[in-house]
Amino acid sequence: MVDILLGLQWGDEGKGKIVDVLAPEYQVVARFQGGPNAGHTLEFDGIKHVLHQIPSGIFREDALNIIGNGVVLDPIVFKKEIDALAKYNLDLKKNLVISKKTAMIVPTHRLLDAAYEKAKGAAKIGSTLRGIGPAYSDKVARQGLRLGDILSPNFEAKYNELVEKHKQILGFYQFEFDLTESTKDFFAAIEFLKDFNLVDSEYVVNESINQGKKVLAEGAQGSLLDIDFGSYPFVTSSNTTAAGVCSGLGVAPRQVGEVFGIFKAYCTRVGSGPFPTELNDDLGERIRQEGREFGATTGRPRRTGWLDLPALKYSIMLNGVTQLIMMKVDVLNILEEVKVCTHYKLPNGEITEQLPYDLCDIEVEPIYKTFKGWNCSLAGLQTYDDLPAELSAYIDYLEAELNIPISFISTGPDREAIILREAIA
Ligand code: GDP
Ligand code: IMO
Ligand code: MG
Repeated sequence: MVDILLGLQWGDEGKGKIVDVLAPEYQVVARFQGGPNAGHTLEFDGIKHVLHQIPSGIFREDALNIIGNGVVLDPIVFKKEIDALAKYNLDLKKNLVISKKTAMIVPTHRLLDAAYEKAKGAAKIGSTLRGIGPAYSDKVARQGLRLGDILSPNFEAKYNELVEKHKQILGFYQFEFDLTESTKDFFAAIEFLKDFNLVDSEYVVNESINQGKKVLAEGAQGSLLDIDFGSYPFVTSSNTTAAGVCSGLGVAPRQVGEVFGIFKAYCTRVGSGPFPTELNDDLGERIRQEGREFGATTGRPRRTGWLDLPALKYSIMLNGVTQLIMMKVDVLNILEEVKVCTHYKLPNGEITEQLPYDLCDIEVEPIYKTFKGWNCSLAGLQTYDDLPAELSAYIDYLEAELNIPISFISTGPDREAIILREAIA
């Protein structure tokens, strides 16, 4: 079976931490979409580590980690990530495999990302500038490079052909660039990659399933950044929802088991786009500081706001979530009261629980329900029964509204800071 763990908001829900926590239960951990736009943070034994393209099962030595065909991989970032892992003595030649069908990010994709964003001016998406959109565009336009191409004697010619096309577009945008250093880094990274296990990962995944192994698919970004269902155009360029697992790893829908949906006890968003419950005030700043809400990939401050139930219900519906994981509950310890948006009021006065199609163009007014804060530390708490009554009341309300059990409650960045409520799978 393949279980899925994915973000239900705008990313950065804490996926890295939970994949690391769950990984001992799984023999395989696989990324199915996204690329170096992701920043997944793991903390244990006093070490903090941020992964971008490498699955978050990498620190669990018995897990095989797969970078699936649905991912876009930047060889330069990959080399840097592997170099940063060197001190942990991981057997990466054995524990990590990469699909030959993974789409490749080349240096000019990053330049195109920057050129497109610059041209958009104030309407920019707030991309991480990692070349994600341009690389996925080339994949869909059937002109991109794939990781397996590096084994071809024609690779350099294929690369040059693509880069020439990109240079023409960059010329059109009058975007100035110097490719000397990045081209050198790119080809050094390509040589480096050749030492890794490039495979047809759809076979590896399906053989693992057939052998009765448990596979965990690790989502990147969040459901509200999905290319189809997010607040388009302020989205990423892949299907971040559960459906992406089938195409991004080559598994059939009937192989999918549990779908773990992970959400923060509040909301954050990096980059532009609608955020109905955003707090543009001191409170928003307090949550940002308390939650250390600064991007793990770009360092940008994350926008903060209250939990948004219409958005959360939408994500749960799209993904078929079977268990919920609630993160960063400790960040709200500082508050006297905690609010949850239950509905939106549309400009015409209509009250709705649905996300309107034109969310990017209209102002919706969130309708809130207010809870008394628990206002105390949660440090060291290990069981649900130990939680302060105000927090239990808040969790009970969410479970009743969302109609899905909240299996884990995370109370700090460390691997150990977690309260398990129900058996997982
Ligand atoms: P991801 O992209 O979903 O893996 O999440 P990020 O790593 O980008 O952001 C989550 C941040 O919150 C990281 O800095 C984590 O170390 C941190 N974190 C995770 N869980 C908790 C938690 O329960 N409480 C607190 N205070 N921080 C957490
Ligand atoms: P993880 O996996 C939060 C956001 C960017 C921007 C939009 C498009 O760490 O949760 P892109 O570079 O994909 O073209 O940017 O998506 N974004 C993320 N926000 N967490 C992420 O990943 C993100 N990956 C992309 O900020 O708004
Ligand atoms: Mg992140």
